[in-house]
Amino acid sequence: MSEDDQMHEHISKDRIFFIDQQKVVLHDFDAPGYILDIGGGGEGVIGKLKCMRVIAIDTRKEELEGTPEGPLKLVMDARNLQFLDNTFDTTTSFFTLMYVEKANREKILREVYRVLKPNGEFLIWDVVIPPRDDNPKEFFAVRLVVVVHGEEIETGYGVPWKDREQDVSYYADLAEKIGFDVLSKEEHDQTYFLKLKKWGKLSIKGLTKNYIKIDE
Ligand SMILES: C[S@@+](CC[C@H](N)C(=O)[O-])C[C@H]1O[C@@H](n2cnc3c(N)ncnc32)[C@H](O)[C@@H]1O
Repeated sequence: MSEDDQMHEHISKDRIFFIDQQKVVLHDFDAPGYILDIGGGGEGVIGKLKCMRVIAIDTRKEELEGTPEGPLKLVMDARNLQFLDNTFDTTTSFFTLMYVEKANREKILREVYRVLKPNGEFLIWDVVIPPRDDNPKEFFAVRLVVVVHGEEIETGYGVPWKDREQDVSYYADLAEKIGFDVLSKEEHDQTYFLKLKKWGKLSIKGLTKNYIKIDE
């Protein structure tokens, strides 16, 4: 059983490091076309916000089965997205990156970049995970209150703590390395929001390596 599978088994609370409850108010956002939500199981928060506009993918079928009707739900691994290049205007990740092991983070960002259309955006909400150092607790968890359309959803997400440290600057740097531009980078208490953009490629003869930035 992997460490991540263990997280879906019962774990005694004395093995878990809980941070204070965090509140995330999810504001509606403009997004044309379909929205790809990676790790869209759990509470299915993005699905609740955007309903039938959402294509929710998750590696765990049972996670998708528990979410409300509305989105198209597909069992799929974000490391190997089964969509054509340049398919989506918007991709979202709501507390999914915390579940991703370090070795897979760049692969997932590259896959999201590939399936986004030029000028497409990747919106990320997640938690700051500090290094475990010599803390004896093996798991890191956050209790959340998520406000969607005025409804408060209480939930909690936890992961094995070893090698899971992350914060907004870490992902902003990784995203820039891949080719994204960082449009917005916010920390609220111990959660963060990151908005990334894949700029359109200029295809004028002889200038194919330049990128154009189109003001919104
Ligand atoms: C904390 S839950 C996400 C919460 C969810 N977005 C919500 O609205 O409640 C993280 C989810 O990411 C999924 N996940 C982890 N690695 C994944 C991957 N490589 N591809 C797709 N889903 C993944 C997990 O199965 C889990 O359901």
